[in-house]
Amino acid sequence: MGCGLKLTPTTHYSTHNAQLIPNTHNRHNESDNKLVLKSYAKLNLYLEVLNKRKDSYHNLRTIFERISLSDKISIKKRRDNLITVSCDSREVPSNSLNLAYRAAKILQDKFKIKSGVSIGIEKRIPVGAGLGGGSSNAATVLLGLNKLWKLKLNRQQLAKLGAQLGSDVPFFVYEVKFARGLGRGDVIKPLSALSGVNLWHILVVPKIHVSTPYIYKKWDAQIHKKGRPGVLTRPVPNDKMLCLALKKKSLNSIALGLNNVLEKVTVKFYPEVTVVKEKLASCGVKSILMSGSGPAVFGIVASRKEAADLAAKLKAQHQDWRSFAIKNA
Ligand code: C5P
Repeated sequence: MGCGLKLTPTTHYSTHNAQLIPNTHNRHNESDNKLVLKSYAKLNLYLEVLNKRKDSYHNLRTIFERISLSDKISIKKRRDNLITVSCDSREVPSNSLNLAYRAAKILQDKFKIKSGVSIGIEKRIPVGAGLGGGSSNAATVLLGLNKLWKLKLNRQQLAKLGAQLGSDVPFFVYEVKFARGLGRGDVIKPLSALSGVNLWHILVVPKIHVSTPYIYKKWDAQIHKKGRPGVLTRPVPNDKMLCLALKKKSLNSIALGLNNVLEKVTVKFYPEVTVVKEKLASCGVKSILMSGSGPAVFGIVASRKEAADLAAKLKAQHQDWRSFAIKNA
């Protein structure tokens, strides 16, 4: 299933001072005309909402972790100037609403690129789950076309373009294991001190879709009810404690540092999230948290075996949930 739209280039974007992005391991297969890339998902290990902004987004403090669950994206140059998207999942639009399409369109317009591109997406990341799948696909297309179209944009330039597509896109453009996200989540500070950290997870996604704008709207309503505008939340623990715990690889301290203030809003409207959390707790998992605005829930476990055993057990007991053994990537 594909969709082709005709494009008209618009403004020019300066590549002055751009640094080349080094080659990464994220490459299955490449030629001058085609790239096949992994597009990873993310978890939020920490998410604090600071305040509502004038542009109606919210300022956040979040810790992102890139995880091994990934989609496969092929990007192939076309002789005509069309951008087409095909995807093996019916849940993903194959038209101009697709973030991967929009990523290609932004670059094509800005740089007056004459050729088009065919984008193929093998979808493995659950959609609308709080795992950043659509944003990751957009970032992968930005990185891939930067190479195929020889644009020589650096990370900052790609992240700035990515932020126009979604708040989570810049994180994926940086291609790091862990990062702190500020602003609306789009201001990225890679956490290189954590690059040696390895975590195993059980990830469970109940088959429900959660709308992120809906959860933020409910968040605002909850704050107004409590009459606490301004600083919306002052959670103990904080993100620095969590980073220290991750660095020390102390599972007990990590459990104390995990925090997502959107979780209490989402569980109110989607009780299935609580069912998943309780199930993981009953399986002996100590560190459990919802990612983003949900409904994906993850637990941090001690080993690959523990993650795999739990995933197998949950798959057998709950066919209506998707369960994965994953690690950071
Ligand atoms: O940026 P993204 O498209 O992922 O955001 C989806 C929606 O989530 C926004 O339209 C907004 O309603 C909400 N949001 C927010 N504050 C953020 C991120 C997202 O209010 N920092």
